[in-house]
Amino acid sequence: MTKLSLTINGRAHGPVEVRDELSMNDFLREYLGMTGTKFGCGAAQCLSCAVIVDNSDGTSHTSPTCIVAAASFNGKSIRTVEGHAKNGELTALQKAFITHFAFQCGYCTAGFLNEGQVLLERLAKKPCARGELEKTIADALDGHLCRCTGYVKYHEAVRDVILADPKRYLLAQAGQ
Ligand code: FES
Ligand code: FES
Repeated sequence: MTKLSLTINGRAHGPVEVRDELSMNDFLREYLGMTGTKFGCGAAQCLSCAVIVDNSDGTSHTSPTCIVAAASFNGKSIRTVEGHAKNGELTALQKAFITHFAFQCGYCTAGFLNEGQVLLERLAKKPCARGELEKTIADALDGHLCRCTGYVKYHEAVRDVILADPKRYLLAQAGQ
């Protein structure tokens, strides 16, 4: 057993005693009722279960939760799909997903949203060249599986958010 304390979407949880073999996915969904994080393959292959982990150095990355022990998140700060909208206002990326009809069943959406958000935050700190953008988005979303084949729409939605605010996400081009 482990006494688990962590921060989820800015809110402290725990300490709560959990079995060492309890997955983070089960902790979120069954202990906390946070069912926005999905369970797909259960084998770290689809990333529908991915959450954002915020590191102490200010960087963030996504992590699957299906085969990762809840105990391994002790002391960490994470974000889930429930934490994106603020006061009922969807983020630019959430709105773009809707505008592009990026999802159908929605099972993969939380994972794509978290990954896209991590990319936006990374580009806000370290912009990329316009010519690298397509590959940068493709690389970021790589590994997320969508059984409804929404790949292009997710890609376009992320691209739209970036191109709507090029000064924030892209390197200035010569002559600008
Ligand atoms: S459910 Fe975790 S990677 Fe597929
Ligand atoms: S929208 Fe159905 S799996 Fe992606």
